[in-house]
Amino acid sequence: MLGLLSGKVVIITGCSSGIGRAIAIECAAQGAKLVLHHIGDAQALGDIKTLRIELDQARRAAGGECACESVDIGIDITQETAGQIIVDAATKTFGEVNVLVHNAGIAQFEDFVRVSRPQLKRHMDINFGGPFFLSQAVVQQMITQGRGGSVVSIASVTATFGASQLAHYAATKAAVLGMTASCAVGLGRYGIRFNAVSPGTIETAMNSKDLAGAKRDLMEAHVPLGRLGMPEDIAKPVAFLASDMARYVTGQNLIVDGGATLNYQ
Ligand SMILES: NC(=O)c1ccc[n+]([C@@H]2O[C@H](COP(=O)([O-])OP(=O)(O)OC[C@H]3O[C@@H](n4cnc5c(N)ncnc54)[C@H](O)[C@@H]3O)[C@@H](O)[C@H]2O)c1
Repeated sequence: MLGLLSGKVVIITGCSSGIGRAIAIECAAQGAKLVLHHIGDAQALGDIKTLRIELDQARRAAGGECACESVDIGIDITQETAGQIIVDAATKTFGEVNVLVHNAGIAQFEDFVRVSRPQLKRHMDINFGGPFFLSQAVVQQMITQGRGGSVVSIASVTATFGASQLAHYAATKAAVLGMTASCAVGLGRYGIRFNAVSPGTIETAMNSKDLAGAKRDLMEAHVPLGRLGMPEDIAKPVAFLASDMARYVTGQNLIVDGGATLNYQ
């Protein structure tokens, strides 16, 4: 079977739900071997079980002859040793790591003046510390392998354009963009590419409360493509950036928002 990610070992964080789940399914359809990171609670363990069935279905639907090879690893991304534990799971199972997708994240809507220090720290630890320290572990592995690699981070349009009640969250995603640009510059010599995908409003558990009621219609009306995003809308650009199709693309932030952030008038 030929796919964009045929035979590549892809780590995806926080992939039991939402956008991460869709990325896992797209990568399975594109022929990847998967390291399915999740938070490790009972809900995530159950969700990973059903995800595995969907991965096989996606692989077969794409013409694959065997099931999708995968291993799952449940650990809070803020734990000190999480990065190395995830890399060890990948190398023990598959012998290498070729692609890393930073997807795990949280977003609690809160008025700027009410955001507490612990709340800000938690957002920073998960949304930025997680990608930062996991990148360190993966990059060291990729340098040892000597064949380059691709790191794709799920950032957010809020990093560039802001959002009411999300100053603390937007700052973590701006930090991810800073890391992306700096690592692209610093690690290009090893053939390691760093890129980001910045989603607009995508319908997932993360924003289901915020989108209840009139706000949903308002936001939908604002999108030139006429609808809010779905997790699959993010998964396909991620697969492209992860793949060798994007072999000369590094340090970029691809906005995937149906045109919403251009629509200012
Ligand atoms: N939904 C949107 O509109 C939107 C827009 C822009 C960016 N994003 C980003 O997309 C990514 C995925 O979000 P989603 O919308 O699919 O929401 P989601 O809540 O379905 O997914 C987030 C995932 O991260 C995991 N996670 C959270 N904290 C963790 C931790 N400490 N350790 C390990 N895993 C942890 C969760 O278990 C969950 O599986 C996030 O980084 C989010 O910031 C989402």
